[in-house]
Amino acid sequence: MSKRWYSEHRRDPWRRKAKSSGYRSRSAYKLLQCQEKFNLIREGDTVLDVGCHPGGWSQVSTELTGETGRVLGIDLRPCEPIQGVELVVGDITEPGTQKQIFEMLEGKPIHSIVSDISPRLTGQYEMDQAISVDLVCMVMDFAIPLLNNGGSFVTKVFQGRGIEAIVKAAKIRFSKVQRFSPVASRNSSSEVYLVCKNKLPPNKIDSNETTIRESVEKDLADQGFITSSADEEVEVSGPIGFSVHRAK
Ligand SMILES: C[S@@+](CC[C@H](N)C(=O)[O-])C[C@H]1O[C@@H](n2cnc3c(N)ncnc32)[C@H](O)[C@@H]1O
Repeated sequence: MSKRWYSEHRRDPWRRKAKSSGYRSRSAYKLLQCQEKFNLIREGDTVLDVGCHPGGWSQVSTELTGETGRVLGIDLRPCEPIQGVELVVGDITEPGTQKQIFEMLEGKPIHSIVSDISPRLTGQYEMDQAISVDLVCMVMDFAIPLLNNGGSFVTKVFQGRGIEAIVKAAKIRFSKVQRFSPVASRNSSSEVYLVCKNKLPPNKIDSNETTIRESVEKDLADQGFITSSADEEVEVSGPIGFSVHRAK
């Protein structure tokens, strides 16, 4: 690591605060700041924390839901146990992991989905951003149907192409959709949080609507940002990611 990284790391007040408060990540403050502004999680709620490692958001969620609530955390990487949190190791985009979560819920709805999901970075922003958008779409397509009417959803997404289409798709499903940058997101940060409140009942949602992933993909294709033609695709390592049509 560079000297600059070490000095920024040492100076970061949120990291210091997290350490002294016992939170496993500085990200815990991002969820606390979303909660302060939007009141997403209530006592007694069932919360699904997507991309939970090392566990900061799950710690905050279990504090907020209290003893009567339930928190399920899912990540590719195993977390150290967190009291009051049921942890699943797996890929949220995989049907096997989705089935496991579905079965754990035993038909009961989720009240709040919190997702700080972030792809493994390639270092090429255009690519990382496309993968982030794709991941978020897949999380939404899987998890929103498990959310009760009136429930809330918050997710991190990297700023850039595709966000408008995600917001549009979210507005079909929630009565309030807003972008939010918590103070704990560093100034230089490329991330933004999409906060969706009050999931609409099925009869208020346009049933002709395709999946969120399909509608975002269509929107990007209509704008010429992605292509299905193999010779114009950029290779993406790993199983996912919209095919990026590089801006010339
Ligand atoms: C920024 S970290 C989350 C930090 C966490 N909110 C906290 O406060 O401790 C993002 C996480 O997303 C996870 N992730 C990325 N892709 C995933 C996938 N397909 N399924 C499950 N987790 C995933 C990564 O493993 C990583 O741990």
